[in-house]
Amino acid sequence: MESGMDNTDRDFSEFDREFDRKNTHDLKWRKAGIDAYLSHPVRDDMIPMWIADTDFGCMKEIVEAVKERASHEIYGYCAPGNDFYEAIIFWEKRRFQWEISSQWITALPSVVSGINIAIRAFSQEGDGIIVQTPVYDPFLTIVKRTGRTLKENPLKEENGRYEMDFEHLKMLAENPRNRMLILCSPHNPVGRVWTKKELECLAEICIQNNVMIVTDEIHSDIVYGKGKHYPLLSLDKRYEDCFIHLSAPGKTFNVPGLKMSFAVIPNGDLKKRFDQMQLNLSLDIRNTFGVECVQACYTEAGIRWLAGLLDYLNTNADVVCKFVEAEMPRVRMRKPEGTFLCWLDFSEYGFTDEELLKRVNLGAGVVCVPGDWFGSGGKHHLRLNIGCQRKVLITALKRMKVALEENEK
Ligand SMILES: Cc1ncc(COP(=O)(O)O)c(C=O)c1O
Repeated sequence: MESGMDNTDRDFSEFDREFDRKNTHDLKWRKAGIDAYLSHPVRDDMIPMWIADTDFGCMKEIVEAVKERASHEIYGYCAPGNDFYEAIIFWEKRRFQWEISSQWITALPSVVSGINIAIRAFSQEGDGIIVQTPVYDPFLTIVKRTGRTLKENPLKEENGRYEMDFEHLKMLAENPRNRMLILCSPHNPVGRVWTKKELECLAEICIQNNVMIVTDEIHSDIVYGKGKHYPLLSLDKRYEDCFIHLSAPGKTFNVPGLKMSFAVIPNGDLKKRFDQMQLNLSLDIRNTFGVECVQACYTEAGIRWLAGLLDYLNTNADVVCKFVEAEMPRVRMRKPEGTFLCWLDFSEYGFTDEELLKRVNLGAGVVCVPGDWFGSGGKHHLRLNIGCQRKVLITALKRMKVALEENEK
């Protein structure tokens, strides 16, 4: 358990509680939605372990806040007030010892829209944007869709552990056409929680070469064991002056459908340009329930609930590691340091990516994200979302083992 997290008065059986999400509009559980997204049909009894939301019920304080607001019966245009900004300030200080000001915060409908805004505000068409692959796929698609040029700094992998390639990064950063780097911290899908030293090394290369870092820290709360997440901008006042931080309660508290994320931009001039681009794109959208949600999440109750979540997810990650080691030894994986995502390498089976998907997504009915969505380094991999009830996780792993072994030549 993380220090400073007292979970003595919480009941963790709440994470074992199962919900029927099939008859909601939740994308993760909608067969028709998945068929379209993954371009192949899935089984009716599929176990969806793909898109990154969890199957855990929200903490009661969030549900109460949303219900209370709903009971008002009027849902007009929304403008967050002081309590919204204070909640974010509280969380950054309590969790990460980072002191921020309300003047630095911009509410956003999503982190992904924040990346889009930053690219458009601070680079030109044709400019190079650096990403470290394999990485969360919208990083790749937004760069392409905004007419910028994708510059990959592939992560280096040894025995399943991924590291940044600083030499290659330096080479990319020295090219003045490469204007920006989008950082994923902690890193989806490989599960690394970057160390202070790694982050400083990255930041110094970028500062020296005038490359802006847009850091996506949406997974920052989901860190296991003794690991520690450092908000990049908190490491040096110089970083506050030229980089942009994006985050949200979406992953931690399982509320991405409430569409309330935020940017922290300490430099006034950069913030003005970012906010202007948000307006230009008509993305200055605030969700009434999202505001209530942020205020309910980022509290001492949220700190206690998070301790229980981390405990549960950590055990889920151990369950996957032990199962893989004992039952599917040809799958290579490392326990994620952070995120509720496992990155599995199936290369030893010798399957094509198509056959791998057929066996796991169709044969086992365990819907994972194909590795090649994440850019180079994704071949022969699948991303497995372990944010589910343990019973379901174990059933999925057993089904996966059978499908991998079936009619093996
Ligand atoms: C790294 C990363 N950034 C952003 C998002 C999505 O955030 P939002 O819904 O706020 O756009 C995800 C969701 O999986 C993610 O993994």
